[in-house]
Amino acid sequence: MALYRVAKIAKDFYVLRLDDTETKYFEGIWEIPEGITYNSYLLTLPDKTVLFDGWKKDYSEEFIEAVKSIVDINDIDVVVLHHMEPDHTGSIPVLLSKMNRQPTIYAHPMARPMLISFYGLKIQRIIAVKDKDTLDLGDEKITFIHTPWLHWPETIVSYLERHNALITCDVFGSYSVPKGIFDDELNEESISEYLRYARKYMVTVIGYYRNHVIPALNKIAALGIQPSLIAPGHGLIWRKSPGKIIEAYRAFAESRYDDNKITMIYTSMYGFVEKTMEKIKDYLENNGYKIAEHKFTDKDEPLVSEILLDADTSKALVVGISNYEASLHPHMDNILNILAKKIKASKPVLLVTVYGWGDAAKTLAKKKLENTPLNPVEYISLRAGAIPDTEMIKNFLEKIKE
Ligand code: FEO
Repeated sequence: MALYRVAKIAKDFYVLRLDDTETKYFEGIWEIPEGITYNSYLLTLPDKTVLFDGWKKDYSEEFIEAVKSIVDINDIDVVVLHHMEPDHTGSIPVLLSKMNRQPTIYAHPMARPMLISFYGLKIQRIIAVKDKDTLDLGDEKITFIHTPWLHWPETIVSYLERHNALITCDVFGSYSVPKGIFDDELNEESISEYLRYARKYMVTVIGYYRNHVIPALNKIAALGIQPSLIAPGHGLIWRKSPGKIIEAYRAFAESRYDDNKITMIYTSMYGFVEKTMEKIKDYLENNGYKIAEHKFTDKDEPLVSEILLDADTSKALVVGISNYEASLHPHMDNILNILAKKIKASKPVLLVTVYGWGDAAKTLAKKKLENTPLNPVEYISLRAGAIPDTEMIKNFLEKIKE
């Protein structure tokens, strides 16, 4: 059985957290050796019991056990589903199948067809909540706020007025399995490490939709909501410094980067590209830049999720591509597609292509990067074994200073 934890947030408010260290590729693509958690919440009011979200289907047994450790599952009156992605809804049909009466489900108007299609559910009562609809339960009033594209178009968050708490599902989430449940259980160093995982989560999962973050933050603020507690669907609950995770999301939304950091990404089949890149790296380091290096070689395969994180938080990129059968090396083809989709701010690129008999990669890469945020400002095209001209590297540095 996977490890789960149940903790009291307040006398009638609980978190149920599953620590998933088994998923290797979140969404079937993002490597997460640090793991991830699925957080669900229970509100146990005198007259009503409300469940917010579930866990991934693989952990349905543990989920039901966790719920039962707090309430009788048949006492659940309301289930709020903030987002239909199966990491939050997969265990819900299993729970419903064990109940002898069906709760009322509250979710976005787009949720119903997804629930039916994903899980074959015969839903008896589902309330499609409009933006800013409220549910007055006497001892607590819940406001549902639409936050489209964070992460899907049907995503909502819940504001609990009496607890002054926001339950936010993917919004303000992160990768990793923190030792503590609450932010005040981690020291400054661990929080800093956690915020790195949070940025990695943001760029991989929400990167494509990041333009929707600021409007959502502004919308919540315009409602006069200043939560003293932020309870996301992944990672830490923020009760000491909720402003920290809000600020981290703002930095991500604005694509803020380290002015002193350059990320180098390349393929090297026989060491020619690697040798060229090492020379470039030495030059950049001698000019005071911190380098994050990711190389695909006959001995190395970097993590795509880490490439994306480093690229997103860098001032500029150096991209090195081996010609492969008169085309881009397939690894770099894939990486460029991902970067072009997830990076939103313009990144100057030094494009390095290395060839044996003809440089098709230069032309193809140039075309691929047209109309994307990746902006080649300098090119180095070399026959394998040739030495790069430092003047071109110097030109690149001059251009990224502009
Ligand atoms: Fe954590 Fe978009 O699901």
